Amino acid sequence: MEIQLICSECNQIYSASDGLWRCSCGGLLDIEMDTHFSIDLIQKRPPSMWRYKEALPIQQDNNIISFSEGFTPIIPIEFEGKSVMIKQDHLFQTGSYKDRGASVLISFAKEIGVTHVVEDSSGNAGCAIAAYCARANINCDIYVPSNTSPAKLAQITQYGANLYLIPGSREDTAHAVLNAAKTTYYASHSWNPFFFQGTKTFAYEIWEQNNWIAPEAIILPAGNGTLILGVWIGFNDLMKAGLISTLPRIFAVQSKNCAPLYAAHKHSVSTLPEGKWLPTVAEGIAIAEPVRGEQILQAVRFTNGDFFIVDDDQIQFAMLDMHRKGFYIEPTAAATIAAIPEIIHAHPKIDHWFSVFTGHGLKSTEKILAIQKHLSNN
Ligand SMILES: Cc1ncc(COP(=O)(O)O)c(C=O)c1O
Ligand SMILES: [Zn+2]
Repeated sequence: MEIQLICSECNQIYSASDGLWRCSCGGLLDIEMDTHFSIDLIQKRPPSMWRYKEALPIQQDNNIISFSEGFTPIIPIEFEGKSVMIKQDHLFQTGSYKDRGASVLISFAKEIGVTHVVEDSSGNAGCAIAAYCARANINCDIYVPSNTSPAKLAQITQYGANLYLIPGSREDTAHAVLNAAKTTYYASHSWNPFFFQGTKTFAYEIWEQNNWIAPEAIILPAGNGTLILGVWIGFNDLMKAGLISTLPRIFAVQSKNCAPLYAAHKHSVSTLPEGKWLPTVAEGIAIAEPVRGEQILQAVRFTNGDFFIVDDDQIQFAMLDMHRKGFYIEPTAAATIAAIPEIIHAHPKIDHWFSVFTGHGLKSTEKILAIQKHLSNN
């Protein structure tokens, strides 16, 4: 099976083995491939995301770079008198759901003989790429904003990656990496389409763990949309295979301090407003210029979903509430949870909700201590 990449702007087709991360016209590349699911085979395999390997774009099993990730537990939590099924993707090897994308992307890099990658991140994707490169014996350079949580910086360097701290915003980091990406394989979680082939397993697992049924609605964070677009691709794969008949509605959450997708949606446009956005405690979704913004808007709109925003106080209270219930999540993960009451209140007819814990609290100790202090002073 030859895997092809297609440009979303000019429809140019490339062989995936060319190792490109964008089209010569500058457009985004997406993967064209057939996916297969055998429920018998899937059920016989160990509980990891690789149990769906016939739907994943890696040809040779010996190229799979894995920590047996995935198949994370789902636990019901009550909000507004309704039970919401929360997939606990903070329980991955590196402490965030980004391991899904890193496992497929670095397996693919190994498959095409890449020996050195570069990536930019708000922290968690950098941790995941660095860990999978360590396991694959691939050299790794990670660019992050200089205000990234120290625990994430420690993690990246402990995996043996070279760390580049970039002053300024997340966008300044994204611009700084582009020079390196001219000569080194760009393992980008926003541009590189192989990352989304990993995050799509979130949808497969929810389908299987929910007795092979797609839920009515899923509440997800929206930064670069790696989870939203993964969920979109994954449920569409299941639909094309005739395994589900409707797509779940996707409800996306942004931080009020950095909400370009929410703003575009409310104005019914597909181009993102050029706003001056503010910092937020939800560092992982502080993305002013998501490169796949249009695709995220399309996915949410197509499924009859919506965008919601939460402010930093709501995020901090939601985080505290989860910690008090024993779920130790990081502030960015709490942003999604903070929006749940308003979203389910706005849609009383939907009974079957799913959401996610995206990142572990142990990654943000300093930020959590600062929040603790802030809340006890108020
Ligand atoms: C903990 C956590 N949650 C959510 C996100 C949102 O990312 P995306 O919109 O790309 O899925 C991130 C991204 O870094 C993150 O680190
Ligand atoms: Zn193109």
